[in-house]
Amino acid sequence: MRILVLNGPNLNLLGRREPDVYGHVSLKGLATDMMLAKPEGVEISFKQSNHEGEIIDALHDAYDYEGVILNAGAYTHTSIAIRDAISAIAAPVVEVHISNVHAREVFRHESKLAGVCLGVITGFGLNSYTLAMHALIEHWRNRHD
Ligand code: DQA
Repeated sequence: MRILVLNGPNLNLLGRREPDVYGHVSLKGLATDMMLAKPEGVEISFKQSNHEGEIIDALHDAYDYEGVILNAGAYTHTSIAIRDAISAIAAPVVEVHISNVHAREVFRHESKLAGVCLGVITGFGLNSYTLAMHALIEHWRNRHD
């Protein structure tokens, strides 16, 4: 089972960026945590980009993966192009956020992506990603048992 963890703009600064909101752990630390948490048989790859087109290319490259965990950062709230890329691929996509976007500014309450995702996990810090991984594994198992 292949899962892509795809992080969008400004998430390269994780650990240094607004640590009161996003915590002190870096993207590398997130990758280490996820590699430790993943069950056997699950292959996880990681990508981060600050560029909308590169995020779209990465989604296309994961066309037939068993899952994508996507934190599109601020593009969540603006990007029809990323929404269309999610709709275009066969892989189920889980939208994740580190912070609880609904407890923040009003402009973060709307997601252009959520309606074409398998589900949304928001507000659990970096655990949002591992929760999404388990959700994708369950989803895959339910379809293959
Ligand atoms: C975020 C929330 C977004 O609103 C914000 O633009 C981010 C990070 C989160 O993980 O909490 O860049 O996606």
